[in-house]
Amino acid sequence: MPQVDRPYLAGLDLTGRRVVVVGGGTVAQRRLPPLLDVGARIELIAPEVTPAIEGMAGADEIVWQPRRYAAGDLAGAWYVLALTDDPETNAVVAAEAEQQRVFCVRADRGAGGTASTPASGQWRGLRIAVASESIGPGSEHGADPIRAAVVRDGVLDWLRSGAGEDILRARRKTSEKLPGVALVGGGPGDPDLITVRGRRLLGQADVVVVDRLGPRSLLPELSPDVELIDATKLPRGRSMSQEAINAALVEHALAGKFVVRLKGGDPYVFGRGSEELEACLAAGVPVQVVPGLSSAISVPGLAGIPLTHRGVAHEAVIVSGHLPPDNPDSLIDWTALARLHGTIVVLMGVANLAAIAETLIAHGRDAKTGVAVIQDGSMPAERVTVSSLAEIGEVAQQADIRPPAIIVIGDVVHRRPAKPEAEPQ
Ligand SMILES: C[S@@+](CC[C@H](N)C(=O)[O-])C[C@H]1O[C@@H](n2cnc3c(N)ncnc32)[C@H](O)[C@@H]1O
Repeated sequence: MPQVDRPYLAGLDLTGRRVVVVGGGTVAQRRLPPLLDVGARIELIAPEVTPAIEGMAGADEIVWQPRRYAAGDLAGAWYVLALTDDPETNAVVAAEAEQQRVFCVRADRGAGGTASTPASGQWRGLRIAVASESIGPGSEHGADPIRAAVVRDGVLDWLRSGAGEDILRARRKTSEKLPGVALVGGGPGDPDLITVRGRRLLGQADVVVVDRLGPRSLLPELSPDVELIDATKLPRGRSMSQEAINAALVEHALAGKFVVRLKGGDPYVFGRGSEELEACLAAGVPVQVVPGLSSAISVPGLAGIPLTHRGVAHEAVIVSGHLPPDNPDSLIDWTALARLHGTIVVLMGVANLAAIAETLIAHGRDAKTGVAVIQDGSMPAERVTVSSLAEIGEVAQQADIRPPAIIVIGDVVHRRPAKPEAEPQ
């Protein structure tokens, strides 16, 4: 698994729960009021404190232990903040917190903190929080917390300027106006890779019928009153039948709801979008199609592999590999494909990868032809395996490649730059 150190944002209920704060300087002084606001039972450990903190202790708002931190101080704590100006003390607190499985904010540049504090504010009963991407070293004192606070202020100013009321009103109005079904292609998975129209319609949906693939991290952004229907089809596992999906689209649309059918990639590339469109039209339901970035093209592109390249590949064919090449139900002419000079892109082909490679070689494609398998394209777990037709079966098995993956066969694979591209912004 790749290392992902982005924080998972959660709201903690600290009311009446023991929170240990280590350190009594101005950093602690700034962190205490929000903890007091939510009714945390705060125990502060520091030989010396600022006058304001002493005042809080005098008013029984916190319990102050006027001494240095000692092993065992975290017993029974739900949350700890290591806020001293001594990195060694903070490291000891962070280490004990890790051992006790207590989340720890470490307000210096050292490693070991397991939580971070977003810049937050309130608007109309909502808490608006902006968090830095990293909770690792430097995240509490570096530039990101300042950026987070600036963005938080900007968002709050914007909401309070009347824009917040406007968007709430607009959502109510537009969802009333939009009837029917939108078949929205969500792209390969990265939430930034859905179209502007797709994202706008998603924000107006009353019902969202969703696949396993596609931009699933957009789902938590849906309003709680949006009904979510899981239309996942697991390869060789549980799945909602296509008939049931069609029926759900039609039924909700006829009930006056605006339904977004959010699909991975493009609805019309191995997405059964046309079947859903036909079902809606047959029931008299208005339906629109919003194309998406198909994984067949975008996933190789993101991995640095062009499907065509002048002088190398002047054709690219997209095929489904869900059936073995010798299956009589396969509509694919693998013999003809083996004679191509260009690129073959295989979707749903992980289970049959070795058989596909053998078949292509048997029918004349050079065994040295490059093959790339890109698993979880555009997602944090993306990994790319490059080999040749002769060896990919074994290499993929050893690498334990699993769906979803795109298989690219052709010499374009060698156009992939040796160095990874710059991180997307
Ligand atoms: C049922 S097809 C849907 C294709 C989708 N309509 C599209 O245009 O991308 C599912 C297959 O798409 C491919 N796929 C979809 N998303 C992918 C991703 N993020 N990374 C790699 N392969 C992906 C895999 O081959 C997967 O088995």
